[in-house]
Amino acid sequence: MLSPRSVNIKSVRFLVFTALVIFCVMLGLKLMVNLPDPGIYSALDDSKVVSTQLRQLRAQVGKLKILLAKNGIANPYENLESLPTIFAITPTHTRPLQKAELTRISQTFLLIPNFHWIIVEDAEIRTPLVTNLLAQSGLSYTHLNAETPKEWKLLLEDPQWKKPRGVKQRNAALQWLRNHADPRKPAVVFFADDDNTYSLELFEEMRNTKTVSVWPVGLVGNVRFERPILDEHDKVANWSTGWRPERPFAIDMAGFAINLKLLLDNPDAEFSFDAPRGYQESTILGAVVTKENLEPKASKCTKVYVWHTRTENPKLNDVKGKVPGMVVDWTVEV
Ligand code: UGA
Ligand code: MN
Repeated sequence: MLSPRSVNIKSVRFLVFTALVIFCVMLGLKLMVNLPDPGIYSALDDSKVVSTQLRQLRAQVGKLKILLAKNGIANPYENLESLPTIFAITPTHTRPLQKAELTRISQTFLLIPNFHWIIVEDAEIRTPLVTNLLAQSGLSYTHLNAETPKEWKLLLEDPQWKKPRGVKQRNAALQWLRNHADPRKPAVVFFADDDNTYSLELFEEMRNTKTVSVWPVGLVGNVRFERPILDEHDKVANWSTGWRPERPFAIDMAGFAINLKLLLDNPDAEFSFDAPRGYQESTILGAVVTKENLEPKASKCTKVYVWHTRTENPKLNDVKGKVPGMVVDWTVEV
């Protein structure tokens, strides 16, 4: 006969054993959930891993550029003669998100050598917000303004796609380049909208563009990404897009860069309010290049280095007077 004591020991053993089994099963499940799916995440490419030293140096470069700007000293390292300059053209307009967007992209741009930002405000004047942001940015820049004519201005109730955006601003920047850029110095022109996300690799891909380079763009046209389709000779044959693939250049504004020389040699190349919806890119590209001469970048258009992020407009209840007792403090810049 079993003594009550041995029954107790048995049931304790059973409980401990069951608890151990449950613990092991749960641990196994957790590991399975956390482990990357080998099909999705391939091994890291060692040659592309940024060393600690390089990362620290890159961070120092950005910090030093800001320090020089704060003290009004021209950056002596800005124009490395051996590197073509990148001119990035950004149309921008006043809205609650503007400072956040410009802060994000300007801090990316800080890490790019030989970079000149042409920022064009869709406004009657150059605003203090953008003026101050640029002055403190540490970037080499040109600040312009060109207001969209009333009849082409998007109204608050209009859907986003109803009217083209950035037309007058980009043309003003092209005009500035034609008047001021040194045609003897190699350079490339890129249209960097203020709401996209840019990876540093993108700028090194575009830097040595001979004619027009092209690459994929993520999160655009209601698809994961759009890209040029290459033929067996690695030339652009067609376009994989979420929308109107029949366009001559079915590519987003963030998907290409143009050698400055082509824009100087074709002084009439510009954007147009008369272009059909979605044809701004085809308008400028059609004026400077043919499909056969495009240069595919980003590992034969298989890498995404730029995303059409389109930040969601915040709902500001305080501004609408919907937060009882809250006074809107307009003296604080947001
Ligand atoms: C898409 C493309 O990504 C744009 O490059 C293209 O100009 C646009 O379609 C078009 O078809 O016109 P989407 O994200 O819908 O862009 O456009 P936004 O990001 O709203 O505007 C593009 C640029 O123009 C931005 O830098 C934005 O700040 C500026 N913008 C927008 C103005 O300067 N004024 C405005 O009234 C609106
Ligand atoms: Mn956009």
